[in-house]
Amino acid sequence: MSNPAPQANTTASHDDVAVQTQQGLYIDATALSLHLPALEYRNNALYLEDVSINELAEHYDTPCYVYSKQAILDVYQAYADSFATLDHQICYAVKANSNLAVLGVLAEAGAGFDIVSRGELMRVLAAGGKASRVVFSGVGKAYEDIEYALNQGIACFNVESISELILINEVAQKLDKQAPISLRVNPDVDAKTHPYISTGLKDNKFGIAHEQALAVYEQAAGLSNIDIVGIDCHIGSQLTEVAPFIAAMNKVIELIHSLQEKGIELQHIDLGGGLGVRYIDESPVSIEDFAQALLPKLTELGLTVFFEPGRSIVANAGILLTRVEVLKPTKHKNFAIVDAAMNDLIRPALYQAQMAVIPNHLPAKGLDTDDMQPWDIVGAICETGDFLAKDRLLALATNDILAITGAGAYGFVMSSNYNSRPRSAEIMVSGDRHQLIRKRETIEDLYNDEVLWQN
Ligand code: LLP
Repeated sequence: MSNPAPQANTTASHDDVAVQTQQGLYIDATALSLHLPALEYRNNALYLEDVSINELAEHYDTPCYVYSKQAILDVYQAYADSFATLDHQICYAVKANSNLAVLGVLAEAGAGFDIVSRGELMRVLAAGGKASRVVFSGVGKAYEDIEYALNQGIACFNVESISELILINEVAQKLDKQAPISLRVNPDVDAKTHPYISTGLKDNKFGIAHEQALAVYEQAAGLSNIDIVGIDCHIGSQLTEVAPFIAAMNKVIELIHSLQEKGIELQHIDLGGGLGVRYIDESPVSIEDFAQALLPKLTELGLTVFFEPGRSIVANAGILLTRVEVLKPTKHKNFAIVDAAMNDLIRPALYQAQMAVIPNHLPAKGLDTDDMQPWDIVGAICETGDFLAKDRLLALATNDILAITGAGAYGFVMSSNYNSRPRSAEIMVSGDRHQLIRKRETIEDLYNDEVLWQN
């Protein structure tokens, strides 16, 4: 963060308040508007686009995920504009948020899709996406997945192992089709991100080792029903620096040249996803700067370029709304027990992810008030790991609505029914309109398909 953050006891106008970091420092409103363009306070009440958070919470109840259509489109457009000089395809990584409405908005904007399962492909098609703009990643594609994708006519399989390559050839032979493939190369580059979401190191299960790739391409060239169309890499997620992307790209380009020497010509290079976002005070490289750093070499290369961004398109378009149920101050810690929990949003528990917590209204007395206390925002699940945020300075009362930001990516899609908790509703807003895009599960939904043991 470039601006010095005011301390909690500093007098500040309401407009200065927004979020505070784990350290108990405030991030000013400028920072808030920078990373959450669709979220703002109007007369002290929080709005997403032109819809008030209070109205959403009343109308749909909490917890619920809410996405700004415009915020999704703006980031997609930033990618499209930044790479406009290249023949390119942005293949949105469906795993980040696979709600049909989200996919539909992106399909309408012209996006392609990166999928990792037959289920994701079926969602893309149901949302109006084109199979011809789909790339299929993932280390464990099953026979039926490959068959379905070939029949739909996807653009490319990103192949992650020799046995997968052989299986794809076998399925294609049976269907009397040519399977378009690229090899996902593991460049052994450190993405400098959380170890659970780093994928481009030789210790990770992903891709084909850089040193092996040439030989595997030669093997692929000899297979009857394989059509080599590209090369692919994806080194990890939530990368904030551009250097690892450049290092991976350079290694892949080296390989492309070696392939050319062997007479193997490619049509596209796929550089994966992974561009990070600001959750609290991270400073990820912007899409424009990311593009500027990659463009010279990619332009020289002259191939079509694919990207597979997920998080950067949807994370900051979404919030998770939750209501404060119980305030439990103790001698050592203050706990605010809210109606969302780790089953709704697992990122803090799983990756120690820090996501901002923004109240639906600013403290009535401003920032210089004793009402502000450090709170742990926790769920009602019977696990100590069930927390959404820790040590946030907030002025809380029961029934307050809190918005957890950065929740558009890897939020709802990673939710579960742990503790027999129904999964929350999802809503999309556009201008002053809001729409239910996934209805809240009922408790009966959770056991309707279960069957009692018959004696
Ligand atoms: N392409 C491939 C092959 C991937 O495995 C991924 C993400 C992406 C693209 C999209 O990456 P993105 O642009 O979203 O960084 N659940 C974790 C993130 C897991 C990412 C898995 N792969 C989290 O909540 O941080």
